[in-house]
Amino acid sequence: MISVASCYLALLLSSTAFAAPVADLFDAASLSSSATPASVLAPSSTSSAASSTATVPYISLNPNFPMWGPNDPTTPEAERGTLGASVIGPTDTDTVLQNPDLLAPPTTDGGSVPNAKWPYSLSSNRLQTGGWARQQNVNVMPFAENLAGVNMRLEAGAIRELHWHKTAEWAYILQGTTQVTSVNADGQNYVANVGAGDLWYFPPGVPHSLQATNDDPAGTEFLLVFPTGDFNEDDTFLLTDWMAHVPAEVLAKNFQTDISTFSQVPAKELYIFPSNSPAPPSDAPISPNGVVPQPFTFNFSSVAPISVPGGTYKIVDSTTFNISTQVAAAEITLEPGAMRELHWHPTQDEWGFFLEGTARVTIFASSGNARTFDYQAGDISYVPATYGHYVENTGNSTLKFLEIFNTDKFADIGLSNWLALIPPALVQAHLGFNETTINSLPKTKRVLTAPYNVTLSA
Ligand SMILES: *[C@@H]1O[C@H](CO)[C@@H](O)[C@H](O)[C@H]1NC(C)=O
Ligand SMILES: *[C@@H]1O[C@H](CO)[C@@H](O)[C@H](O)[C@H]1NC(C)=O
Ligand SMILES: *[C@@H]1O[C@H](CO)[C@@H](O)[C@H](O)[C@H]1NC(C)=O
Ligand SMILES: *[C@@H]1O[C@H](CO)[C@@H](O)[C@H](O)[C@H]1NC(C)=O
Ligand SMILES: *[C@@H]1O[C@H](CO)[C@@H](O)[C@H](O)[C@H]1NC(C)=O
Repeated sequence: MISVASCYLALLLSSTAFAAPVADLFDAASLSSSATPASVLAPSSTSSAASSTATVPYISLNPNFPMWGPNDPTTPEAERGTLGASVIGPTDTDTVLQNPDLLAPPTTDGGSVPNAKWPYSLSSNRLQTGGWARQQNVNVMPFAENLAGVNMRLEAGAIRELHWHKTAEWAYILQGTTQVTSVNADGQNYVANVGAGDLWYFPPGVPHSLQATNDDPAGTEFLLVFPTGDFNEDDTFLLTDWMAHVPAEVLAKNFQTDISTFSQVPAKELYIFPSNSPAPPSDAPISPNGVVPQPFTFNFSSVAPISVPGGTYKIVDSTTFNISTQVAAAEITLEPGAMRELHWHPTQDEWGFFLEGTARVTIFASSGNARTFDYQAGDISYVPATYGHYVENTGNSTLKFLEIFNTDKFADIGLSNWLALIPPALVQAHLGFNETTINSLPKTKRVLTAPYNVTLSA
């Protein structure tokens, strides 16, 4: 028996001293043949449990740790155990170090799964005076059919121009304070300031502006998420763009004013531009129709997370952030060695964003298709509805990430909870677990798993 810490130590071991003995014990080629009698690898069973009927060989117990970490002083090779060979052509070492499970995939990967990783650092950035914006949509990540994202930065006082679009908009503030303004179809208005970890949501077509306050001298940065994969940040409806494309006499008739009123209307869109820090929300005009009945912002940062062995999580959807009927989310922290358990989301695609740390995710797409991806802070992940997956903290620091869904209510089904709540004989018949193991399955959803030192035995 070999006990290996399921943490950074394990990564080092698996890529050095550990690699050779594992390859000898569990030669991948021999495991895939039917030469190994199933009984050799059969788990022991209690006298009370009926033995499972093996109509197919059992799985390999060969571990598949990532072969290296992003900061390892190692030369990555396209090798796992006896499989693969060294790389002798040109290679981008930094990219390879960040993606160990692509160059040397777990032997459990198979078939084909589209690319499910997009680092914002690969998005072309739109630089403006006062800030910038970069986006991810189906043009760069075709797998992400139902959600898209924009990462935006505004210097103190800078404004993301008054605009609207057909898609709803959900946001998570990364740093600083952002002032949002809006008016709905009933002439009700809304002006609020939101800080790091807080949210806003604008329903489809509702006009809004975003502006950095000077609470933080650096201004603000935030993440925008749209519940459609083909959202294009460059195709929104901007106030100045519209004004510049209406005959001036029509503008004069519309506003019932002299044509000279429009002498300072920009001839081109402003998009992001510098300005003075905004007045407090309490200075906003009072609408005769009142304020919007359901606030467009949500103080998510002040929601206490649920603390469980392995980390914390908190969920927000339309049950608490009532207006947010098309986006739900979870904010999760995982200690080193901990995992977001094996699960799937019944009807909702998941758009993930990594805030801190390093992670590994295997996406199971049915029919023998599975692929493993590695993520760092600033990366986007994507997992379609129903696809089984886990999120493992593969680093030696806290992993913090967001799971975002195009839905009104967060929902997931945990594998261990599913198996805990069905007749034990059914679990035994499928998986050969003994009574003790079945009794230890969590009847209450676990969501996260505590750090666990994996015991390896033949
Ligand atoms: C795993 O093993 C390491 C090294 O022996 C130890 O420091 C750590 O506490 C163990 N963790 C758990 C969860 O048992
Ligand atoms: C965490 O791992 C990095 C290498 O990825 C290393 O530089 C750092 O010292 C480690 N930190 C701790 C606390 O072990
Ligand atoms: C959110 O909650 C925090 C802490 O309770 C508070 O300081 C802040 O003013 C709140 N923000 C909003 C926008 O309500
Ligand atoms: C949100 O909806 C729930 C359930 O209908 C209600 O209890 C709650 O007061 C609403 N919250 C707000 C801020 O409107
Ligand atoms: C049940 O299975 C577990 C895991 O293989 C093993 O550690 C344990 O000893 C078994 N218990 C019994 C009663 O056979």
